[in-house]
Amino acid sequence: MAGEERSVKVKIDNVKRIFNTRNGEMVALNGVSLDIMENEFICVVGPSGCGKSTLLNIIAGLLEPSSGKVYCDGKEVQGTGTERGVVFQQYALFPWMTVKKNVMFGLNLQGIKGTEAEEIAMKYIKMVQLEDFVNHYPKELSGGMKQRVAIARAYAVNPSILLMDEPFGALDAQTRTQLQSELLETWEKERKTCFFITHDVDEAIILAQKVIIMSARPGRIKEIVDINIPYPRTQETKMSKEFLDLKNHIWGQVYQEYLEVRK
Ligand SMILES: Nc1ncnc2c1ncn2[C@@H]1O[C@H](COP(=O)(O)OP(=O)(O)O)[C@@H](O)[C@H]1O
Ligand SMILES: [Mg+2]
Repeated sequence: MAGEERSVKVKIDNVKRIFNTRNGEMVALNGVSLDIMENEFICVVGPSGCGKSTLLNIIAGLLEPSSGKVYCDGKEVQGTGTERGVVFQQYALFPWMTVKKNVMFGLNLQGIKGTEAEEIAMKYIKMVQLEDFVNHYPKELSGGMKQRVAIARAYAVNPSILLMDEPFGALDAQTRTQLQSELLETWEKERKTCFFITHDVDEAIILAQKVIIMSARPGRIKEIVDINIPYPRTQETKMSKEFLDLKNHIWGQVYQEYLEVRK
């Protein structure tokens, strides 16, 4: 997008995170620096245990870095904030609330109540195509539907960045593909900054403008791969040579790190 000015949404500056475990100190992340630009769609891949969730939780303000800092819109992150919306792999819906009440929850916390909250909630419930299920409870929904509710709930409070930790990881392949398409469609419309963790290389390439490959413990950024495939991307994109070349490359890099973990 020529001439478009983009600012840094989130700045990760030399972040290190140590956990105290029974076996002593464990360095989960070391020397991680990254700028997440406004409107950018970033995916993070890397072997299990390399610190992806730790990094996301630090950006979300759910965990503190042991050293280094994270800034969101130039302000140091200290604790959670509504400008950073989080979607986890496990749906984290309130089981005693209907779909509509779940989506309205964050709005109510922000002091938005009554019909205004309902209207906003309905807009995002429609976005995820659940308008026929507004009065259902989570236990009455499939996994994919529950995750749609979680996405609607994250969008409803209008965060300036979405932090998604393997949000489709628990879904079957077909549902996952469908939710990828829906998320892509939404992102193309709203261009909301997305920081999306996945262990699925295909998913990373189909979604992202940039794929961050993390190395095995201690987690560091190993490589940043630009995905210069134009949007809109479809499932056919996955058959293109461009896609397959990127997949080979990224998969190879991640696989090396898997081998590191097993050593
Ligand atoms: N609260 C914690 N206490 C101790 N160790 C932790 C904690 N959270 C994560 N870890 C460890 O930190 C490493 C990175 O974990 P995590 O960020 O969850 O990795 P990933 O999401 O890439 O699978 C792992 O070895 C994990 O066991
Ligand atoms: Mg994780």
